[in-house]
Amino acid sequence: MRSWENPVVTCDIREVGPRDGLQNEPPVPVADRVRLIDALAAAGVRHIEAASFVHPAAIPAMAGAEETLASITRRPGVRYTALVPNRKGAERALAAGADELEAVVSASATHNLKNLKRTPAETLQQIAGIIELAHAAGRPVDAGVATCFGCPYEGDIAPAAVAAYARRLVDLGADSLFFGDTTGMGSPRRVGLLLDALEAEGIDLGIVGLHLHDTRGTGLANAYAALERGITRFDASIGGLGGCPYAPGASGNVATEDLVHMVEDLGIPTGISLDGLIAAAHLAEEIVGRRLPGQVMRSGPRTQLVPAG
Ligand code: COA
Ligand code: ZN
Repeated sequence: MRSWENPVVTCDIREVGPRDGLQNEPPVPVADRVRLIDALAAAGVRHIEAASFVHPAAIPAMAGAEETLASITRRPGVRYTALVPNRKGAERALAAGADELEAVVSASATHNLKNLKRTPAETLQQIAGIIELAHAAGRPVDAGVATCFGCPYEGDIAPAAVAAYARRLVDLGADSLFFGDTTGMGSPRRVGLLLDALEAEGIDLGIVGLHLHDTRGTGLANAYAALERGITRFDASIGGLGGCPYAPGASGNVATEDLVHMVEDLGIPTGISLDGLIAAAHLAEEIVGRRLPGQVMRSGPRTQLVPAG
């Protein structure tokens, strides 16, 4: 069933701008990161990737993760999550009060080595440890596969290879899965092929989310293709902030406000205020000091009227 034909469906949009977005910008002060997270929560976003507990030398823009989590104004009902690369990151994130952890392995071995300095097999071992630590603390792990639709170093990645990683992650105890189009090489057709491969591998599509980048202008089309297959969990970044420092040519995620605008028009509630998001997108622009690619933040909602005369 298409997502919008199911009256009980809502969309779970995880805001990743404060992590995936800001990690790719010259470092901004923790206070600004906190302001952005609080503005997103005030707009009704209930799932926010607030920080990553990586080595600060690897990603200087993510230094101060503990301080970030300690400084946000926690709103009831909002999950503040963190990306972790290894056990050490998981220990730090759990101690800092992250509600959920994200861990990722790249389907491209070359990207995994550049990003995490580990082979995919070594990273899977780390993820096993991350899951063990998180579960012992009573918190879930959303495990992801990056470079799902291709890699700038290795080219196309076979959907069956991505599905094999998904199977490993489920077997390791991951609570949910996300699939990252790290460098925007996906297309609606390829989204369909990946979901077919996941189904063939016996993966329940109910636990699947997509992490889309709009590098080649296909971000929203990819989300729509996934919605047609019943997927309702998406990552997005405010204003389209983002990229990946270890993937040449990577650009921002699908803009949260553009995605919410499209999804709500399909009749799927997100619980998020579009006006609040647009305000947060302008705040994000102010913080990074450059124009962001989001479109609805400029044009306004489609029903916005202008004086005729
Ligand atoms: N947080 C803080 N420090 C960490 C850490 C973490 N998550 N993981 C390792 N370290 C420290 C170790 O304690 C060790 O410190 P020491 O020298 O004082 O003993 C040092 O870093 C080296 O540890 P090692 O395990 O050898 O790390 P590494 O140099 O192989 O780096 C990663 C591996 C994964 C930690 C590093 O590459 C990283 O943080 N990458 C993040 C990549 C990322 O987030 N990309 C963006 C996603 S697209
Ligand atoms: Zn990303």
